[in-house]
Amino acid sequence: MRLFLIFTLIFTLSVQWESGNEMMKKVMNAIGEEGREQVINSLHESDLQKLMDCVESVCEMTDFTDLMEKMLNVLKEIPHGDKLIYKLMKELFKHGRLAELVNGLSEEYTLEIINILEAKDIGKLINMNIGQGDSSKSMSIGKKIIPIIKKAKGGKGVSKLISMFIGDGNVKESLNEGGEFAVMALPYHHPVPGGLRPGMAVYIQGSVPKDSNRFGVDFAFAKYQGPDIPFHFNPRFSWWNKVVLNSFESGRWRKEEKRKMPFRKGEHFKVIFMVTEAGYQILVNRKQFYVFRHRIPPQSVRFIKVFGDLELQSLNVTAEPMIGNMIMTSPEIYHLALPYDQTVLGGLHPGMSIYVNGTVPEESDSFSVDFACCQHKRADIPLHFNPRLFQETLVLNSYQSHRWGKEEKLQNPFQKGEHFEIIFIVNEAEYQILVNGNPFCNYSHRFPPQGVQLIRVDGDVDLQSLNVTGGPKMGNTIMTSPAIYHPPVPYTGDIPGGLGAERTITVRGSIPKNAKRFEINFMAGQEIPLHINLRMKPWRAVVRNSFLNGIWGKEERNLTFNPFQPGLYFKLSIHCDNHEFKFYANDQPFFNYTHRYVPIKHIRTMEIDGDVTLSYIKY
Ligand SMILES: *[C@@H]1O[C@H](CO)[C@@H](O)[C@H](O)[C@H]1NC(C)=O
Ligand SMILES: *[C@@H]1O[C@H](CO)[C@@H](O)[C@H](O)[C@H]1NC(C)=O
Ligand SMILES: *[C@@H]1O[C@H](CO)[C@@H](O)[C@H](O)[C@H]1NC(C)=O
Ligand SMILES: *[C@@H]1O[C@H](CO)[C@@H](O)[C@H](O)[C@H]1NC(C)=O
Ligand SMILES: *[C@@H]1O[C@H](CO)[C@@H](O)[C@H](O)[C@H]1NC(C)=O
Ligand SMILES: *[C@@H]1O[C@H](CO)[C@@H](O)[C@H](O)[C@H]1NC(C)=O
Repeated sequence: MRLFLIFTLIFTLSVQWESGNEMMKKVMNAIGEEGREQVINSLHESDLQKLMDCVESVCEMTDFTDLMEKMLNVLKEIPHGDKLIYKLMKELFKHGRLAELVNGLSEEYTLEIINILEAKDIGKLINMNIGQGDSSKSMSIGKKIIPIIKKAKGGKGVSKLISMFIGDGNVKESLNEGGEFAVMALPYHHPVPGGLRPGMAVYIQGSVPKDSNRFGVDFAFAKYQGPDIPFHFNPRFSWWNKVVLNSFESGRWRKEEKRKMPFRKGEHFKVIFMVTEAGYQILVNRKQFYVFRHRIPPQSVRFIKVFGDLELQSLNVTAEPMIGNMIMTSPEIYHLALPYDQTVLGGLHPGMSIYVNGTVPEESDSFSVDFACCQHKRADIPLHFNPRLFQETLVLNSYQSHRWGKEEKLQNPFQKGEHFEIIFIVNEAEYQILVNGNPFCNYSHRFPPQGVQLIRVDGDVDLQSLNVTGGPKMGNTIMTSPAIYHPPVPYTGDIPGGLGAERTITVRGSIPKNAKRFEINFMAGQEIPLHINLRMKPWRAVVRNSFLNGIWGKEERNLTFNPFQPGLYFKLSIHCDNHEFKFYANDQPFFNYTHRYVPIKHIRTMEIDGDVTLSYIKY
């Protein structure tokens, strides 16, 4: 009986569809839940289409959400159902029943619907229903729908949607509760009342939606169109894939400057516009991008306008983008400017450690901590520590004589958006590396750490601090004078107080590739109590002798090992007691030389000359 009734009903509906609105409404209300489900389940695609054509009647039904859900269940299953859902939604929204629908449907369902809709339509649809007086209604919709849209559409149109909601102050207030809505309405106008001056900077953070077409930042005279725009910054995606930079003067656009696209769809970004005397120096994701030379003085800028397809998270104008070597990378947060170089005076040696902390930015691809032998670009790098976030690996390697060695690859332990701490401990045999307090790995020395003169951090990282701690073990020797760094050769230095027992002299340096020889002389006036001749060519030797009373004595040449070779770094420690000089090379006993001259405290000068580069001397 029931089935028959339903069959008749469908028949009636399909026949009388055109004029059936009133009837439909009555029937739907009459047949009850179970019946409705069956009706809808038995409708054909074309019928559903018709049902939607007279959806007005559906909208007038009392428990319409329930019916909708059932219809949607059916539509989901049929071919082209999404198009029908789309139409249906449009209709429903048009009839002002969005609030009910959104509040009535489960979040999961709403998400599905939104995924079907085009962002621009969501905007339009919501716009039809929102902002018509009932702010509590639009608020409740907003609260529910925006996070869903954000999840669903990768952000596109979100800022537009939000701008619709936040037209109403109350709504904005409530939407911003709990910081849930970090996205700002567009177009956004940031007033710059006194204009921009060199030394100021503009910070913009946001995300590029996956389907962004273009967005822009205008440094303009006024909010409205017409007056001059001294600087127009306009990333264009699609086939352009360029950033266009221009100015608008006296009613027309001037000469375009174009640059390669540094932004990526679906990714977070930070742009810094540093206002300099010359122009706008632009950094994208803390990398130098371009300098747009001033065409119109920046002092005349009154508004910074952000518009187009982007999710704007913040815009800040600051007068102090840099404090010392710290650069403001985000609102109020200063980081060390990159590349950051920390000189390691005298090289690294066992017992020292390097502490690095900072944050990995959301948009980070890769960064590196390099232990280098000098500032030069092509300098040797005994340790290259390189987390690659884009491939979830961490690469360790060494670079010598313009060549990379064999990579050691490990799982990347760093997380985007998170703070980190790295500790490098210099051991005799290796660098022991800890990340966030946990042992991460050991990297065996391929080159002596003594050669490291510089630690450089570069890449996509917000570096907070880098500290080198520890130093040579002082033992109970007297170390009164400060160390001397990178002295030129020939070098002549005074030994404070003259040589004496319990004094250790440390010399660090490197031997150039084509070196032949160099010498070290310990002098007492005209006398040379100890002359050391370190020969690399034509053969290697370490010749020791004394030049006293105008004549050379007997040479000593015997050695058990000799680490002095072209291209290598060395550390030489000279310890002196009342009986002899004791020399240590790279912390190994090197040779002893019995005193031929006394009193040793008259030995007050050390001279170094020849083919050697000195990095550190300490008495
Ligand atoms: C930066 O801008 C955002 C909005 O653009 C604002 O909420 C925040 O307070 C600003 N921060 C500073 C330090 O000015
Ligand atoms: C790393 O080196 C340290 C010190 O030599 C040692 O205690 C530790 O076990 C080593 N760790 C690994 C993973 O080899
Ligand atoms: C980073 O290290 C510095 C010390 O060098 C410290 O003051 C700062 O608190 C550290 N940052 C964090 C977040 O631990
Ligand atoms: C650590 O390094 C940072 C920057 O490199 C510096 O500002 C700070 O003073 C250092 N802290 C110590 C304790 O050396
Ligand atoms: C070198 O010769 C001297 C004197 O002949 C001796 O005292 C010394 O122990 C020798 N040193 C080495 C390293 O063989
Ligand atoms: C130098 O003499 C000390 C003892 O005074 C000894 O321990 C050391 O091995 C000697 N060095 C060399 C290179 O013979």
